Amino acid sequence: MVPLSLAKSLASSPRSAEQCSADEATALFRADVLYGLSQPQKAVPPKYFYDEAGSRLFDLICRLPDYYPTRCELEILKARAAEIGALAGPGASLVEFGSGSSIKVRLLLDAMAAPAAYVPIDISGPHMRAAVTRLAEAYPGVAMVPVEADFTQSVRLPPLEDGRRVGFFPGSTIGNFTPEAATAFLAHVGDVLGAGSALVVGFDLAKDRAVLEAAYDDRQGITAAFNLNLLARINREVGADFEPSAFRHRAFLNGAESRIEMHLESVRQQEVSIGRHHFAFARGETIHTENSYKFSADAFLAMVRHAGWRQHAVWTDPKGWFAVAALERDGEGR
Ligand code: AVI
Repeated sequence: MVPLSLAKSLASSPRSAEQCSADEATALFRADVLYGLSQPQKAVPPKYFYDEAGSRLFDLICRLPDYYPTRCELEILKARAAEIGALAGPGASLVEFGSGSSIKVRLLLDAMAAPAAYVPIDISGPHMRAAVTRLAEAYPGVAMVPVEADFTQSVRLPPLEDGRRVGFFPGSTIGNFTPEAATAFLAHVGDVLGAGSALVVGFDLAKDRAVLEAAYDDRQGITAAFNLNLLARINREVGADFEPSAFRHRAFLNGAESRIEMHLESVRQQEVSIGRHHFAFARGETIHTENSYKFSADAFLAMVRHAGWRQHAVWTDPKGWFAVAALERDGEGR
């Protein structure tokens, strides 16, 4: 069952899916879409971006010149790898929440002294297993222990060696949760990793509107395609009759909430049907598809303290656009 404290984070989590059969997953998707489109501000949770096409588009986004977070985070991890290795100590196990950032994982494994295990936790089994097979060849001395699970739910780690457990949550995916859900998630990660563990987490920093808006509305139109792909997925999997060309991608900074919002805007008055359910759209009305929170270091650290973590270090790239926090959890350690 979903712990109550995480129910909200599941509703807004970016890359989660229930651990259930394909039929149950489709039924949940349909229920989420019907619920979201019935709200005064229509909305669909961002976790549904990541079908096969959406995941491919997201990989392209990470390589875009306008999308700075991936580049900035890599720069920080490269510069601070030795410090992260020292924080982990010898024989540590690296536990990644989500998987897919294999360049970043390699940086950390290379910097750690005799890492005992790499434990990616991801709902997408085949994708994760393929990544692990590649890593296993490069790191024959590291036990590869993939856990196929929704990392936002209560996850139990497999038995691990005695070294430190080091969590890794890169990419500022934490910014796709509401602040309340992010706090609940960070506390949950602490419970999963246990006393004495460490956590390395990437978060995006508040900055100039023009830089932020360009990152989420790139010149090549890849982010627009990523956002609009959601409608194609809803049509295919839930039987809706969205006409994607009748919607346009919108991304803007909501300064009061310090977040980029992505929406799909109806370019005309229209009606969309899902079975016997009909949804009217006024011209200009939007479906809210994603929030991406941008933090000050202080606000982020207040949140992590609230979730039971202590700051070891916060590093930024030379431009001060992105940050990586290294955190520790009190207690005996393992
Ligand atoms: C996955 N997540 C951290 C990305 C972000 O920046 O919020 C998702 C994304 N949406 C549009 N571009 C990238």
